Amino acid sequence: MSSPDERRVRTVFDIYTEPGVEWQVRFLGTHLHPGFEEATAALASRAAHYGFSEGGVILDLASALGGPARFLARRFAATVICIDLNPRMHAALTSAARAEGLTLSCLPIRARTEQLPLAPASCDGAWSQDALCHMDKPAVLGEVARVLRPDALFAFTDFIARSGLKGEDAEALARNWAFPSLLRLPQYTALLDAHGFEVLCAEDRTRIVVAQYPQVRARDQERWEADFAARHGEAERQRQRALGQLWLTLLRAERVGYGMFVGRRRSQSYPARAIGPHRESTAEASLRREVMSNGVGKE
Ligand SMILES: C[S@@+](CC[C@H](N)C(=O)[O-])C[C@H]1O[C@@H](n2cnc3c(N)ncnc32)[C@H](O)[C@@H]1O
Repeated sequence: MSSPDERRVRTVFDIYTEPGVEWQVRFLGTHLHPGFEEATAALASRAAHYGFSEGGVILDLASALGGPARFLARRFAATVICIDLNPRMHAALTSAARAEGLTLSCLPIRARTEQLPLAPASCDGAWSQDALCHMDKPAVLGEVARVLRPDALFAFTDFIARSGLKGEDAEALARNWAFPSLLRLPQYTALLDAHGFEVLCAEDRTRIVVAQYPQVRARDQERWEADFAARHGEAERQRQRALGQLWLTLLRAERVGYGMFVGRRRSQSYPARAIGPHRESTAEASLRREVMSNGVGKE
């Protein structure tokens, strides 16, 4: 019998298969998240407003194809450590970074974000876009707090729960999109605070993101899909359509939403841990239980 964690990782791999990534890139481009590159620029501008580090080492959690990482390397003159568990993503990142002269600025490391192979206080900033939804959030926040130097910023966006989210919606997202839990904005803020972050920004951007989606289909959509089905099969086309439709429906109905966060790692309150797997403290364990029982969806 596999554990919930193993099942989640398997589902994550099932989502980001070769056809899965091809389908998503068609709609999103290499910034593999809702809101396209515009969302990356919006987060960068908010992070810069709060003093996001320039010229330092930035950790990108779940860098995927590296659209945001390459943007960050340029925007903040940064060296970006690109963590992802999927080698397909790193292959794409490496070739794009090479083509753009960013080989030494975007460094791929294959790892789980819940267990970062990085030294305590080794990063000047942390970043993530629409990926913590797949993860054990308390474990990841603990790791980010560990590897950030004091006063460094963590800027990220993620899916959030809205009050209309039903149990069956959360189950469908867990089953099809490997979302173990979704938090409401105040729960996310509390979790950040409990992991040693001063929350500078916690904003619901659902309507902004929804408005960025065109209401009409592209003229070549039918032909593109027919070509996709010819190469990957009709069942794969239907699977990809259903996956896209699930979250777009919930997003448009505002049953799930989209949050933007910037947190500053507090100087003293969070003890640095040794390198290695995250070990949960009693306080974290109790918060995790609270989050899992209040948040929508369970591990
Ligand atoms: C939606 S994509 C991330 C998009 C990317 N941040 C961007 O904005 O272009 C999700 C990524 O998370 C990665 N991922 C999911 N769970 C992970 C984990 N626990 N550790 C590392 N990577 C993970 C997947 O392999 C996938 O590449």
